[in-house]
Amino acid sequence: MLAPSHCLPSVLLLFLQLCPLYHCSTSTPLEHKPLFSFNSTWEVLGPFQIGTREATWGADPLEFNGGFRNLEYDPRAVFRSSLLTNGTAYWNITIAETSSSTTSGNASLSVGYSNVDWDFLKTVYGWASVQYQAWARGELVVGGNETQHIILHTDAILEFWINDTHSFGGDFYSYRNAPPVLHLEPGRHRIDLRLVRDVRAFGGILKPTIDVVVGVEQVSGSLDLAKPGILMSDVIDGKLATPHGSVTLRNTGARDIEITGIHAANVSTNVSTLFPLLRLSTDSQMLVARGANDLTSGQATDDRAENAQGYGIVIVAGQTRPVAFNITLPTHKASSLAYNITYKVIDSSEHLSLEVTQDLKHVSAYDPHKITFLHPGGIVSYAMLRPPAKNATCRHKQTKVPVLLALHGAGLEADNSMVTGALDPVSDLCAWIVFPTGVTTWSGDDWHNWGFADVEAAIDVIPAWIRYGNWSGSGVDTDRWIVSGHSNGGQGTWYAVTHRPDKVLAAIPVSGYASIQKYVPYELWQPADPRRTSVISASMNSYRHEMLMANARSIPIQQQHGEVDDNVPAYHSRFLAQQLQLSGANSTYHEVPNQNHWWDGIMTTPELIDFYYNQTRSKEKLPRELDEFSIVVGDPGDMGSKGGVRVTQLEDPGQYGRVHVKGRTVKTSNVLSIEFGPPFWKDAIMIDGQTLELASAAANTDTPVSVRLSGDTWVTEAVSTTKKSPSRRGRQLGSMRAILRTHGPITIEHPGTVNTSHLALQVSRNLHQYFRADTIIFSKTANSASANVTGNAILLALGDALEGAVADLPIQVSSSGIILRDSRGREQRYDEARGSVWLRPLEGERLELVLWGADDEGLTQAARLVPMLTGVGQPDFVVLGEEAKWKGVEGALALGFFDSQWQVTASSFVS
Ligand SMILES: *[C@@H]1O[C@H](CO)[C@@H](O)[C@H](O)[C@H]1NC(C)=O
Ligand SMILES: *[C@@H]1O[C@H](CO)[C@@H](O)[C@H](O)[C@H]1NC(C)=O
Ligand SMILES: *[C@@H]1O[C@H](CO)[C@@H](O)[C@H](O)[C@H]1NC(C)=O
Ligand SMILES: *[C@@H]1O[C@H](CO)[C@@H](O)[C@H](O)[C@H]1NC(C)=O
Ligand SMILES: *[C@@H]1O[C@H](CO)[C@@H](O)[C@H](O)[C@H]1NC(C)=O
Ligand SMILES: *[C@@H]1O[C@H](CO)[C@@H](O)[C@H](O)[C@H]1NC(C)=O
Ligand SMILES: *[C@@H]1O[C@H](CO)[C@@H](O)[C@H](O)[C@H]1NC(C)=O
Ligand SMILES: *[C@@H]1O[C@H](CO)[C@@H](O)[C@H](O)[C@H]1NC(C)=O
Repeated sequence: MLAPSHCLPSVLLLFLQLCPLYHCSTSTPLEHKPLFSFNSTWEVLGPFQIGTREATWGADPLEFNGGFRNLEYDPRAVFRSSLLTNGTAYWNITIAETSSSTTSGNASLSVGYSNVDWDFLKTVYGWASVQYQAWARGELVVGGNETQHIILHTDAILEFWINDTHSFGGDFYSYRNAPPVLHLEPGRHRIDLRLVRDVRAFGGILKPTIDVVVGVEQVSGSLDLAKPGILMSDVIDGKLATPHGSVTLRNTGARDIEITGIHAANVSTNVSTLFPLLRLSTDSQMLVARGANDLTSGQATDDRAENAQGYGIVIVAGQTRPVAFNITLPTHKASSLAYNITYKVIDSSEHLSLEVTQDLKHVSAYDPHKITFLHPGGIVSYAMLRPPAKNATCRHKQTKVPVLLALHGAGLEADNSMVTGALDPVSDLCAWIVFPTGVTTWSGDDWHNWGFADVEAAIDVIPAWIRYGNWSGSGVDTDRWIVSGHSNGGQGTWYAVTHRPDKVLAAIPVSGYASIQKYVPYELWQPADPRRTSVISASMNSYRHEMLMANARSIPIQQQHGEVDDNVPAYHSRFLAQQLQLSGANSTYHEVPNQNHWWDGIMTTPELIDFYYNQTRSKEKLPRELDEFSIVVGDPGDMGSKGGVRVTQLEDPGQYGRVHVKGRTVKTSNVLSIEFGPPFWKDAIMIDGQTLELASAAANTDTPVSVRLSGDTWVTEAVSTTKKSPSRRGRQLGSMRAILRTHGPITIEHPGTVNTSHLALQVSRNLHQYFRADTIIFSKTANSASANVTGNAILLALGDALEGAVADLPIQVSSSGIILRDSRGREQRYDEARGSVWLRPLEGERLELVLWGADDEGLTQAARLVPMLTGVGQPDFVVLGEEAKWKGVEGALALGFFDSQWQVTASSFVS
């Protein structure tokens, strides 16, 4: 990753921390009684040990004493802690820096422990030991005589309480995408913050302090822009590069709001609105295809009639949603544009409006510029695109040129010149250079499911960009990639190499890490049965790149790392260079003496420049026809083909699958089904000692042949059959993170009680906070899910009321708790289950994530496990007991995976 502190000028960093993005409010002189003020005195209790990304599982020792919220400050109270002298921790007082203006208030806390010998702990446990947890308590005083509508920022915080209301999710990366909306009475409000240190997010080599900010900001109590302006493309020759636009709206009121239209505001005749991009089509592919490939289809059609028939965009009270629409420029020379968003409060007839304006950026088609497109999740995203220059050094008659991906490091916005300028010195490369965002500055989920879908959507929009802009330069080969990236982007480069080998022409991973576990070890989690930890670990199989190096065989790789990198140690690149060699693959590794994590010119050292020019002009054909190769698969849902061979299902998803190919001889291990794709696989193969004729099964020569293990025998089946089969496949594969492979917004359905509404909002907020995802919240009592949603679903359920139960599923809810049918067909009853989370299938390769609680508190516990941060390791199902609150994973009563028939695998843990 790229800790911001190592890559941004420190002044800028300071600025970002003190007033992230546009949120800076000009401070006014302190009035006698500010409307919002935080205590400068905070009561702190800690430190206690915690493992890398463990906090999601609970693992809070104070829960054993009933939770921090039930403890009062007492300087004599003694708490056991593994980190301190005598094994004892005490309460302490910390002074926060506070500030207030007429409309906002802030408190910045820096908590550190001089009474811990961090250096010694580090010699034994490494960076794992400077990750610790603590709690801090302060107060927010709201002045005045009226209820105040506010949003609450929780920078670098994962979990907190306001009085007796719990909230999990927070804003660990300080995005400020989806702060909670609160309506506070005048008076004192107690704030308890769980502080969790994370080396990746906070910086490894820095002082082991925890620096967090809480801030309140006054809002309108109605509809607000969550971000100023419109997310839209730059303008080329008086025309938008791409027409997709998006505004992010937040309902800061107490009642639900319906958006009724978005209309151009400065030129009244130019109405070019509405929601075709968001209209929920039954064919989810359409939603994507329309956005990605059909930019030219032209004129704005007025969809108001359709909206009038019932579909409007509802933003429930407290929710933040991105709203997509098409943009047309009022004039070629316009320097800004304005849109008028009309809305109404549900069950009221009053029509209101909100204006949004955006300055336009006019650029040359040859400059890196912003293009927008639809992410499969139904949101508009952007990438920076640098088309091949006029004088690009292409081969003679090279009509289609490759895509060069440049994946950014953590904490960086792709439109930052530090990202797009890094390849300026090679302005004449024969390539379409794409600087994707991965949707967020942490590339969604570290360039994995959500982030990589964004990369692929950005690539797919290039042909449409070419048509839409009447581009007459070189064409693009969207299946031919040179992948590069720095830091977290270097890790993303490894992901591309190991998961899309048939598309990767060459790769340049720079200063990247091998896997999150190798970056900061998972030592210091609460102790757990190795069967439990093995499930957690297996949930991350697909992202342990050091295990997948065989997939890189025959791909030219130029590695680079600074010798004295103290952020991502050069160890990672050295280690992968060796792993490549041990798995029969190869790379050139260049270690740059005396260089740290980032330096000017890092992406254009002489070694890299040579490599860029050689590879962009490469004549190698893709996919490569390989005589001998291996494929290692952690999650087939993530995997593309290698040598035309694609693993589509594993026997046990809790274990890696392997395929070895030599000539026409194929050997498999833990693999259930495989596709053999054109152009190489047409005749007979020998698979696990059995001869199998592929030609007869192919519908035509362009389609792959699917083979499946049936008992002990491999059989062929038409791909059309597999598409209809009820077995688990495609986007349903993988652990809980598979929910992020949604096509269209994720729906969240809840029973409609106060607590379940609160939790549904928390889930929605977290998905937007961490992925900028869109969600549609349905309450059983108010509205119900419409039939034509295309996205994945999250269902909140309480007690024995679980609707839409799938009869054959091995996990069921009964009046006394959870019943699980294990891999041997035995029923396990978990009457003590507090909460549970599991995946179940919906038609059309969709998924539903069920969050179940024995009661409100149990459901709150279950809701923590909705995918958010990487490295947490949620498998397909988890049954949580009370003890998970302090024991973490050891407090899970059962957890594991479902196989292709949605049955519990033998690799699962069932107690
Ligand atoms: C550790 O315990 C000893 C014996 O009770 C005590 O004298 C000493 O002050 C304690 N040290 C700390 C840092 O609490
Ligand atoms: C109290 O806080 C100070 C300053 O943050 C810190 O140096 C000290 O170690 C803390 N003491 C205890 C007992 O936690
Ligand atoms: C906040 O300040 C008030 C008044 O100074 C004090 O009474 C209260 O105890 C403080 N709260 C905390 C948590 O320090
Ligand atoms: C609050 O109400 C009191 C009495 O109604 C009034 O005197 C005071 O000015 C009000 N304060 C504010 C901040 O509005
Ligand atoms: C928190 O509790 C205090 C004291 O009971 C009360 O005045 C305040 O309104 C509460 N705040 C919230 C957000 O519930
Ligand atoms: C926005 O639309 C509303 C309702 O149609 C209208 O009353 C208002 O004048 C419009 N505002 C602007 C700035 O165009
Ligand atoms: C919006 O753009 C999409 C994709 O280009 C297109 O299919 C649709 O017709 C457009 N709708 C309007 C109202 O312009
Ligand atoms: C290509 O053009 C750019 C300016 O557009 C220039 O900086 C670069 O040197 C040129 N490259 C070659 C090989 O002529």
